Amino acid sequence: MTILTIKIYGDPVLRKQAKEITKVDESIRKLAFNMLKTVREAGGIGLAANQVGEDKKLFVINRSFFSPGKDSPLIVINPVLVASHGEQTSEEGCLSIPGTFADVTRQLEVLVKGIDLDEKEIQIEGKGFLSRVLLHEIDHLNGLLFIDHLSSIRRRLLSKKLKKLSTK
Ligand code: NI
Repeated sequence: MTILTIKIYGDPVLRKQAKEITKVDESIRKLAFNMLKTVREAGGIGLAANQVGEDKKLFVINRSFFSPGKDSPLIVINPVLVASHGEQTSEEGCLSIPGTFADVTRQLEVLVKGIDLDEKEIQIEGKGFLSRVLLHEIDHLNGLLFIDHLSSIRRRLLSKKLKKLSTK
């Protein structure tokens, strides 16, 4: 497995709408496993394919982050947000925006559908933190970043930091 390079804020691929995956072949499986290796290595929770330069609808979640010792990664292809409920606010960050954290308000519970590496339909119910992670990753695949959810004042406070990242 290979550790992939994580694209940093300012890279246009992060603003791209990811494309539907029509066939789960060896290249997709390889990409998913490499993404898992990459997110673990980076000490992150989730990673979307466009964060490693591939505009494909695929994300991985490092679930051992939630329950240490238990290794059951979540790989979701062509995710769709089916339902959501409630609201929560807490601090969020992103591997593509290193060193930047801010409170983000998101739905408290979500139901997400997609397919797995065997092209089987899967449904994930996320509550609390998992709901936040799922929504963050779906955002990525739509070209959105967590900073897009902040008020213009909050974003202005971060603008210097962001500018620095995007000109690196
Ligand atoms: Ni992120």
